[in-house]
Amino acid sequence: MAKPFPAVSAATARQRTEASRAIYPLASPIVKWAGGKTQLLKHYTRLFPAEFNRYFEPFLGGGAVFFHMVAKNPNLKAVLSDSNVELINCYNMVKNDLATVIRHLKKHRNDKHHFYRVRAMDISDLTPAERAARLIFLNKTCFNGLYRVNRKGQFNVPFGRYDNPKICDEINLRAAERALCNAKIITANFEAVVAQARKGDFVYLDPPYQPLSTTSSFTGYTRNSFGSDDQVRLVEVFQKLTDKGCYAMLSNSDTPYIRELYDGFLIETVYANRAINSKADKRGRVAEVAILNYSLSGSEDI
Ligand SMILES: C[S@@+](CC[C@H](N)C(=O)[O-])C[C@H]1O[C@@H](n2cnc3c(N)ncnc32)[C@H](O)[C@@H]1O
Repeated sequence: MAKPFPAVSAATARQRTEASRAIYPLASPIVKWAGGKTQLLKHYTRLFPAEFNRYFEPFLGGGAVFFHMVAKNPNLKAVLSDSNVELINCYNMVKNDLATVIRHLKKHRNDKHHFYRVRAMDISDLTPAERAARLIFLNKTCFNGLYRVNRKGQFNVPFGRYDNPKICDEINLRAAERALCNAKIITANFEAVVAQARKGDFVYLDPPYQPLSTTSSFTGYTRNSFGSDDQVRLVEVFQKLTDKGCYAMLSNSDTPYIRELYDGFLIETVYANRAINSKADKRGRVAEVAILNYSLSGSEDI
């Protein structure tokens, strides 16, 4: 008769997890993104629901929260989306054809003339894997890792002059490939994707923020900026998720307008280091809000 496996002590289990993490390192965002949430994760962990079914992130950007979630639960089923076609193509290529993406990425180099030549390329002439490598290359070598396009949808961020940027971080890309293996990754407007969420799913919403002033906030991720009408449509979506029994959490700037829109929900204040401002002396701690449609008892421990 087969013997049951002997019980493993907590210390041994921890050692095994650490050993497997040494072999399979955890993924972090593969692109730097305006509004990226890496620095806020330490404030967010206590705000996430302790348990949920599927995970939805409809304003994916760099996906810092997704990569955190999948590190905690490698079997997580996720639905990830963004309106940025190039970004979503990149994630799908990393998930489905990473070897080809890496092959193309290795051809790129941190050189000003090469950067402007690649930036000017007509992407309709490129394969999906070449487009993914182009996006990662431009992101690693452009000024501040920004993604910004002009009215024609052409990437227009200047060269970044970094000494030695890691253009092809093969270890992290392979970790991201593993992290994405159970994710459905879609180009879509937030409303279309969130409509698929069901009771018990967790939806984390990180839209372009409501500007603090007419000039302060960065909303140029895609050709269409995110205006007040969109903020109103978003609060309607938040209410629908609540009615369906989904867990919903939303990040935004701390303005009277946003507090009024979400009046009645739990509003937590968190502080972020402002990263996007052309004037270095204007960078500093800025209050933001995290809005929840559930109570905090039983949320994830830090
Ligand atoms: C604040 S960023 C998300 C940052 C992300 N949480 C991170 O950690 O990097 C907002 C994202 O929303 C996307 N976006 C803007 N308008 C959208 C829309 N109407 N529907 C879906 N995504 C949209 C942008 O392309 C951008 O990637």
